[in-house]
Amino acid sequence: MPLRANEIKSSDYIGREVMIRGWVYRLRKQKENAFVLVRDDRGGVIQCVFPVEKATQLTIESSIEVTGIVSQDARAPEGGYEIKGNNLRIYNIAGSDYPIGEYQSEELLLDKRHLAMRMRKMIAIAKIRATVLDYARRWFVENNWMEVTAPVIVKGAVEGGSTLFKLKYFDEEAYLSQSAQLYLEAMIFSLGPVWSLTPSFRAERSRTVRHLAEFSHLEAEAPWVTLEDLLKVQEQLISYVIHNTVRERTEELTYLKRDTAELKNIAPPFERLSYEKAIEIIRSKGLMITQEDGSKREIQLGDDLNIESERELTKDATKPIFVVGYPLTIKPFYVKENPQHSGSGLAADMLAPRGFGEITSGGLREDNILSITERIKKEGLDPAAYDWYLDLRNYGSVPHGGFGLGIERLMRWITNVGDIKETVPFPRTISRVIP
Ligand code: 4AD
Ligand code: MG
Repeated sequence: MPLRANEIKSSDYIGREVMIRGWVYRLRKQKENAFVLVRDDRGGVIQCVFPVEKATQLTIESSIEVTGIVSQDARAPEGGYEIKGNNLRIYNIAGSDYPIGEYQSEELLLDKRHLAMRMRKMIAIAKIRATVLDYARRWFVENNWMEVTAPVIVKGAVEGGSTLFKLKYFDEEAYLSQSAQLYLEAMIFSLGPVWSLTPSFRAERSRTVRHLAEFSHLEAEAPWVTLEDLLKVQEQLISYVIHNTVRERTEELTYLKRDTAELKNIAPPFERLSYEKAIEIIRSKGLMITQEDGSKREIQLGDDLNIESERELTKDATKPIFVVGYPLTIKPFYVKENPQHSGSGLAADMLAPRGFGEITSGGLREDNILSITERIKKEGLDPAAYDWYLDLRNYGSVPHGGFGLGIERLMRWITNVGDIKETVPFPRTISRVIP
């Protein structure tokens, strides 16, 4: 039975025969011996040593099966264990022009992502991602939220028309979903608190380190909640995911040189900062925001928080911050107005510390049929396209709310990688749909 590298690296196997399958990760041929670093199918590596004449054909990324005796040798890389190869079976000799070596441009690595997925950095990130998704799901299961699935092909915009991807759907026009929210809202009436993980699509023209055209969207929605209930859910969920990921993925985070001390301290409560206070802080720091025509001015009440302002707000923070009570004018049609503070939405964004910025958006939904119809019209949308959604306000409307979390945004913070494109195996952006 084949074993993986990490299983073999144990004193139990010293002097015993083992088999490993994998790919040639590094290759060094000396006068008598060939030193082959084999990478198994979970990214673990171990050195295998052969008489050089047995390994003449081998090239980087050739796929092989090695049978041999395990020994301990302090000089062996990756933990001091090696396999003295007796038998070498070759599945495929890789072309000698494998494009990924030690140094190459970020662009080349993106063009060759199907091969770059074999790099240790990419493997580490993929494992962290799997663990993040695993614990996010566990949190919802343990707390009795029901998982549901919403369609990705839809007729209506949720987050404004400008970032919709159009789609020819048989003989009519449809869009790729920006958010499952409206569908989750429909499900709370019979399923209670629900959550989903679906791809969301945004035709983002901006090339930034935090925007993808396709991202993994974790969304939750529940009846009879308050804004404070929703903030509690989010801070618990995020803390739980981070603690468990740091515990289970110490090796991978260390490989990425991520300092985990700060992550270990993430625990509720997260600071709640009013939108007005946030604007005041940004003003007091003298940050100038860039306008559409390129000129700069001070930020003022009514402005949305852009990347620069969020960075300014959070660069010295060690825990996430909720910014609460954004003006309705900068939030979508569904945000409920605060009855105690007209013009202000019962909505909050969670900003990750150290400048990472927004990772969630959520809040209460407008549940009055007249107000929401008005808001849909005000946004220039056609109420007819929201016919079914308006039914939810017509038949047993209840106060309710939820939030959306961008998995790649969360990943970028947890792994501390510069660009969101690193957090997903095959990124989609304005300039990239291949591979
Ligand atoms: O802030 P957004 O647009 O909010 C919504 O879509 C709500 N309908 C969610 C809800 O209440 N159910 O998106 C939610 C989150 C953002 O906070 C961000 O983390 C992520 O989704 N996100 C993106 N991530 C990567 N690339 C993009 N282009 C993103 N746009 C949003
Ligand atoms: Mg948002």
